[in-house]
Amino acid sequence: MALITLRQLLDHAAENSYGVPAFNINNMEQGLAIMEAAKACDAPVIIQASRGARNYANDIMLAKMIEALAAIYPDIPLCMHQDHGNNEATCMTAIRHGFTSVMMDGSLEGDAKTPASYDYNVDITERVASMAHWVGASVEGELGVLGSLETGEGEAEDGHGAVGKLDHSQLLTDPDQAVAFVKKTQVDALAIACGTSHGAYKFSRKPDGEILAMSVIEAIHKKLPDTHLVMHGSSSVPQELQDIINAHGGAMPQTFGVPVEEIVRGIKMGVRKVNIDTDCRMAMTGQFRRVAEENKAEFDPRKFLKPAMDAMRDLCRDRFEAFGTAGHASKIKVIPMDDMAKRYADGSLAPKTN
Ligand code: G3H
Ligand code: 13P
Ligand code: ZN
Repeated sequence: MALITLRQLLDHAAENSYGVPAFNINNMEQGLAIMEAAKACDAPVIIQASRGARNYANDIMLAKMIEALAAIYPDIPLCMHQDHGNNEATCMTAIRHGFTSVMMDGSLEGDAKTPASYDYNVDITERVASMAHWVGASVEGELGVLGSLETGEGEAEDGHGAVGKLDHSQLLTDPDQAVAFVKKTQVDALAIACGTSHGAYKFSRKPDGEILAMSVIEAIHKKLPDTHLVMHGSSSVPQELQDIINAHGGAMPQTFGVPVEEIVRGIKMGVRKVNIDTDCRMAMTGQFRRVAEENKAEFDPRKFLKPAMDAMRDLCRDRFEAFGTAGHASKIKVIPMDDMAKRYADGSLAPKTN
């Protein structure tokens, strides 16, 4: 068993100047694809499950799956993370089901739609961090609301995310507020807002600094050089995946994601966790469509799922290699959660904010 906390993994990533992709899963095939990619290039892994994934797959199924993946791939440190926890209960039940890390996303209220006040965010994130740290689990907070700098819209696309128009003061994390937030909440990692959003439709053109504000990341890193930064909405929405989907009956309008080279630039500026879901979905869906179109008589789901897993595996491996994650799994000696809890209790894991 090599279940690792987010904090230990990102500390290692910071010490060795690499980033770690955090891939979302909803099912066994995605879990296996990620772990096969990690094994092929010796990369430590962050797997994350959204509330939607937990509803889809069932908590017990997810918990047993993580246990199984850790057993099948004992040499790969595996962090299991709650993506976008909306309240204390979501985070605590995740930990109870074996997650080693949670995101308390207090940038939105509990409905996951209404932008929250700074005070609400600090209050709930601080509470979750103190509870999670008692048992050695890690906590990611979020300051700033994800959404498009082009349109000022949140993200209705996936059925969650801020509703209504947002201004730039909401869509871009304020660096001074970030310092105060980390100090007060004691989070292990901080998700920031810089113009990225979830889903495939992030940008109407290849993003420049106007619509993808990497300068915000740089400014936050200058003030918080020891804080692990997290980039959400970091799918690159590769043209070739759009083309595969559209060549086989899909009708995705032309769109642009976050270029891999911008993420690599972010990693040099303190980004340590890079959230990717859409690219994996697209890699799999492209193969479902291809197989369905090319083999109209096919009815064995495995004939669809196997090429889909292979495509997702290859995408994950590309990201492990691009972000510098590859080659590090075997260098990490996992610290058990109970020992992490002692370190939080004695103050040795308190964030450095001065
Ligand atoms: O948070 C965004 C992730 O892509 C998860 O999406 O809520 O549809 O599972 P989901
Ligand atoms: P993408 O939709 O860009 O893959 O982002 C996923 C994410 O941020 C999950 O929290
Ligand atoms: Zn996200």
